[in-house]
Amino acid sequence: MDLWKIQFLFIICLAACHGALRTPNVTSTTPAPTLPTLLPAPTENQQPSITCPDDVSTSPLQRLRRAMRDTMYTQMSNFFDAFLVFYSDEHLSEEPPADERRLQYISGWDGAGTAVVLAQGEAAVWVSSGDVGRARASLSCSWLVIDADDSGQPSIAEWIATRIGHTGRVGADARLISISEWSALATGLQPSGISLVHVPTLLDQLWNEETDPERRRPEPSRIVASLHQSDCTGLSWRDKVSFVRNELRVLGADAMVVTALDEVAWLLNVRGRDLPYAPLLKAFVVVSTRDLKVYVPQGKLSMPVREALAVYNCPVHNNNCTSIKDYSMIYTDLRRITDAKVLIPSGGTFQKGASAAIAQSVPRARGFYVLSPIMYLKAQKTNAEVKCMRKAHLRDAVAMCTLISYLQGMVKGQSEISVAMKVDVTRATQANYVGPAMRTRVAFGASAADPDYRATVQLNRQVFSNTTLVIQSGGQYIEGTTLVTRTLHYGDPKLSERRAYTTVLRSLAALSTLQPPAALPAAHADPVARAPLWAARQDYLRPTGYGVGAANHRKEDPVVIDYRQDKNLYTLAEGYFVTVEPAWYEPGKFGISLGNILEVGAKSNEYLYFTEATLVPFERKLIETSMLTEYELTWLNNYNKRIRDVVGPELKAQGLTDVYYWMMNKTVPYPLPSKQTKCKTSSADWEKPGLSLVIGGIVCVVSRIL
Ligand SMILES: *[C@@H]1O[C@H](CO)[C@@H](O)[C@H](O)[C@H]1NC(C)=O
Ligand SMILES: *[C@@H]1O[C@H](CO)[C@@H](O)[C@H](O)[C@H]1NC(C)=O
Ligand SMILES: *[C@@H]1O[C@H](CO)[C@@H](O)[C@H](O)[C@H]1NC(C)=O
Repeated sequence: MDLWKIQFLFIICLAACHGALRTPNVTSTTPAPTLPTLLPAPTENQQPSITCPDDVSTSPLQRLRRAMRDTMYTQMSNFFDAFLVFYSDEHLSEEPPADERRLQYISGWDGAGTAVVLAQGEAAVWVSSGDVGRARASLSCSWLVIDADDSGQPSIAEWIATRIGHTGRVGADARLISISEWSALATGLQPSGISLVHVPTLLDQLWNEETDPERRRPEPSRIVASLHQSDCTGLSWRDKVSFVRNELRVLGADAMVVTALDEVAWLLNVRGRDLPYAPLLKAFVVVSTRDLKVYVPQGKLSMPVREALAVYNCPVHNNNCTSIKDYSMIYTDLRRITDAKVLIPSGGTFQKGASAAIAQSVPRARGFYVLSPIMYLKAQKTNAEVKCMRKAHLRDAVAMCTLISYLQGMVKGQSEISVAMKVDVTRATQANYVGPAMRTRVAFGASAADPDYRATVQLNRQVFSNTTLVIQSGGQYIEGTTLVTRTLHYGDPKLSERRAYTTVLRSLAALSTLQPPAALPAAHADPVARAPLWAARQDYLRPTGYGVGAANHRKEDPVVIDYRQDKNLYTLAEGYFVTVEPAWYEPGKFGISLGNILEVGAKSNEYLYFTEATLVPFERKLIETSMLTEYELTWLNNYNKRIRDVVGPELKAQGLTDVYYWMMNKTVPYPLPSKQTKCKTSSADWEKPGLSLVIGGIVCVVSRIL
């Protein structure tokens, strides 16, 4: 059966059995609430007429249930009463590759979350509140969907405890969850006498044995990792390793386990293709004062990488070369580690730290938990990285100008997904493009008012010219990582849309022009950005911004620009790159989002400033200039001038003349209010609307015939 039909079946099934099979309140100690009156309540002898697709015995869900009771899989005499399925990979990546998406395999849900499968009875998935709607729409009726952010809903441990008896056993793969989350689960289950058992093989074995071709486990990427472009690093791996060793000395550690893939890539100056949206190599590294070990699957390092890392004839305990070990040996080796104090990375704001399996492999007396010192080293880009990031942004600006200008004439008949494909295809025309830095999000009309919206085959809005279109995307180039969000309008915007857009633009300007003291925690800069939106009674639950990697993850620790943060108070520093992404959501109608990457510079030791790395014009039609102050207009004019000066020559060099004129038209300087009166007096050209001219050093634009 093809995917379309399956999805169609799911939809029918959802419509038919949603209310009947899903208990809205999932605490079993309270009596089940009366069913919604929309559907007739099933009576005793009335069987549900449609069975769930997951009820068939060959479904992954039913196979897992059988495996939980089968020693061939459990490899123990005891069986499991419940089994947990996690979303991430062994490095706790935010976006794991296809061959690591176990949660999707078992449930069909492709987003983040945690599944609990009872040996007998229910199965449930915990997802963040923004994902609840989509998860309900995409999961079969065998699954309950529980809002993990709603404190009124049971936690995973509570839910299990009310369903399986004392001395019950819960299986889970501790390689795929952080040590803090694992401990919280184990602690939550303990009062009920339920034990949490690490079973690394069960689910992988099931998946590897899957015979249904549509569900078969994808092959892991075979693309060999290569050296990062040498003029984009600024530091050799030996320099970096010696910096890390210095940090370890300061922290009183003899060794550290590097588990986050962005840190591995940065440390070794190596880039791979193992993750969907970041150029990273799947590997663990153990740095000690005595040596450097890299745990990597067979055949994944190119010859130049092996040479650069000095892997040949590396003697034991030589700190100037690299020992290559097999990827899966990391756990065994950590158990035997002899260094006295081993740093195990704890979770940051985005990076989740070491997995429970890594943490528990290190002998208890030797391990200690602290944030990875590589986080800060990596965030502060070298001059070489900064220069390369600018190059990547220049190419990205050309791609985005091309896309936005070409869309103008062909927006009719497009859908969100077809526009997203055009975005990706247009980026791919640029030299040194590696791939998207995120799943491209295109949202039109009411879709754009939902911050968690993702177009899918079932939910793919047509694009018209009667309201706003939001395009949020980014690119990975050999030189660097880009992200940009623009809101477009291909018709005549309404005043409400122009007001919302201008307010979001003012928020973006407010942060971009901020010159904060270096000691200001990044999180504390957030109110400056949100002030214009707050004044219009608008807010959003996401952070306004976060760190961006260089040819690396689009999102990185340590900084976050989010006023809700009371723990992450890291400050910015010269060489950091951060996003600024304010938004206005008008539920049911439209949404406005704008996003730039800012480069952090230092005015002196004490004050910082920002320069936009993203150089893509804003939509003039949506700007209500009367709402902008002279300060904001000056910022906008300067930004537009930089686009002309920097992107203009590149557009010409690439032969994109039509795009060049489009860009020039979008970046015409705005007249400043204080200087407008003077414009009225001087020129004979004053009868040509749209014309911009400089009169006595003042830019004047003819707006209408006088
Ligand atoms: C480490 O190896 C590099 C490259 O082979 C060499 O240039 C350097 O002198 C070595 N350093 C030490 C301390 O052995
Ligand atoms: C925009 O136009 C389409 C097609 O004519 C229509 O279905 C839709 O309701 C319109 N949306 C708004 C917000 O006016
Ligand atoms: C320039 O922009 C204005 C609106 O800002 C538009 O009316 C005009 O058609 C544009 N001209 C070209 C050549 O794109």
